[in-house]
Amino acid sequence: MCGIVGVIACRNVSKILIEGLSRLEYRGYDSSGIAINNEDGVYSHRAVGKVQALKDKFEAYPLDGKIGIAHTRWATHGKPTEANAHPHFSGDDLALVHNGIIENHEPLRRELKAKGYEFKSETDTEVIVHLIHDAMKSQPDLLKAVQASLAKLEGAFAIGVVQKDDNERFIAARKGSPLVVGVGIEENFVASDQLALLHVTDQFIFLEEGDVVELSRDQVTIYDAKGEPQERPISVFNHNIDATDKGEYRHYMMKEIYEQPKVIAACLDGRISETKVLTSCFGADSGFLKEVENIHIVACGTSYHAGMVAKYWIEDLAGLPCTVEVASEYRYRKVAVPKNTLFLTLSQSGETADTLAALRMAKELGYLTTLAICNVPSSTLVRESALTLLTNAGAEIGVASTKAFTTQLTALLITSIAIAVENGLSAEKEKELVQAMRSLPAYVDLALKEDAHIKNVADRFANKHNALFLGRGTMFPIALEGSLKLKEISYIHAEAYPAGELKHGPLALVDENMPIIALVPHNDMLDKLKSNLQEVAARGGELYVFADKDTDLHSEENIIFTEVPKVDSILEPIVHTIPLQLLSYHVAVVKGTDVDQPRNLAKSVTVE
Ligand code: AGP
Repeated sequence: MCGIVGVIACRNVSKILIEGLSRLEYRGYDSSGIAINNEDGVYSHRAVGKVQALKDKFEAYPLDGKIGIAHTRWATHGKPTEANAHPHFSGDDLALVHNGIIENHEPLRRELKAKGYEFKSETDTEVIVHLIHDAMKSQPDLLKAVQASLAKLEGAFAIGVVQKDDNERFIAARKGSPLVVGVGIEENFVASDQLALLHVTDQFIFLEEGDVVELSRDQVTIYDAKGEPQERPISVFNHNIDATDKGEYRHYMMKEIYEQPKVIAACLDGRISETKVLTSCFGADSGFLKEVENIHIVACGTSYHAGMVAKYWIEDLAGLPCTVEVASEYRYRKVAVPKNTLFLTLSQSGETADTLAALRMAKELGYLTTLAICNVPSSTLVRESALTLLTNAGAEIGVASTKAFTTQLTALLITSIAIAVENGLSAEKEKELVQAMRSLPAYVDLALKEDAHIKNVADRFANKHNALFLGRGTMFPIALEGSLKLKEISYIHAEAYPAGELKHGPLALVDENMPIIALVPHNDMLDKLKSNLQEVAARGGELYVFADKDTDLHSEENIIFTEVPKVDSILEPIVHTIPLQLLSYHVAVVKGTDVDQPRNLAKSVTVE
């Protein structure tokens, strides 16, 4: 999604802004731009495509100044063209960057046109800058004009705005879209996330909904939605700084796949003992574990798939009903909330607009409490949820989620067991599960050892146009996740089905051109799944089987076998995810797609 960087300093800010944009590239975008404010006025460059195109313009025509705002745009209103790229201007007086969507932009545009404003883009953003310009006719102070204008906007926004002739400050604001203030020495910053500013500061202030902030070189003044000045705490960034460094790897995605043994261990650290789940990981208020009678899980995309796995775990281990729903559906329907229901959100970023909206709606619906399983401690989701369990995966840069997913599953397993213990799970069974979890990082490491073999499989796979993923039980959501990974980064059309559904329709698709990826752990469903595979083989389908040795499956004509470590059945969904991540990665590399920033996608989906 769109990314914002803003700087006021005693030095030239153009390099800081460009580096900030490069650090935001992972969020997904299709054009970029920068406005620099100096004594002569506000000047800008905009470019379609990668930030490199913007850098090229800067090299050809340098812009110097001590205040600037910059933007990566992920197109919503209007195509990715230079005219639609931010910053947008009102005359030559004001320049503005925006992340979010202004829902009432059409009536505002009509009003502003009637007042004589000329629009140069198709964006919803352009109304904001003209609105502020119009407000300044009766209220010449930029801060007050911004506050008055924002009150007229419906939708979500984070903005940065600079004014010609004001070389002492710029204004930023947020409501519904993320924005963080970076605090420096005689220089201050804003950005869509902390990673964009780690080259200049590690001190951050997280803005609340509706905050407007005035930034000068030596001061950051924050006003809340009512216009009252507010003190907000400064936090020091504690993620590993080399999150933005690919190290020895060609792509962030591969680096993040290989980090999984380490980050799963970090997710387990301090949350389990030799024999037990430590409920203190839910904070002082873990009393909900005793009271909960139902669980509603709400999330999007990969996080939703993690939630689907947790449904199997919770209902199996705790015997409590659990429903799982995508946030974009949940937020627009009338929800019946049974007594003592836990509302559980899952999100890597903690900034996904639909998930946040679902949480805000749920808070009005009388749930027992709200728990967020999230990877970003400073995120809006964490700040707005009553309880949090952090996944501790470290910053994930690749758009295709990998380590964030397996750590979500790890955190969900901890949660499922904790709830189950209060609902009759024996101490003996808890110990067995916890001991299995302690071996998880080592098994994930073992699964990674198949990398070279999977790379060969990928060579065979890369010319395919479609793929069908099959799994049963907890392997069904993993099949969904495998197919999503393949779609996202290799652009191969892929679908996933519970294997038992094959004969109810999708079997019609099976012929020698349809690869079938089957996830076959050695568990209770093995014989049933083998029958499903027979149905495929009988129709000439090419089977890519991911199974452990005990299944007695192996490579033969029309079967390409990949070994997955044999693990306790509770760990199967996590361990079986690894080869599917590697398969998608290698297929994408063979196809030459942009692995870390696949087309049309954004890392943090901050608009509806
Ligand atoms: C996963 O590969 C995707 N990038 C996407 O489905 C993602 O999981 C989804 O947008 C939800 O994001 P979140 O976990 O940050 O809320």
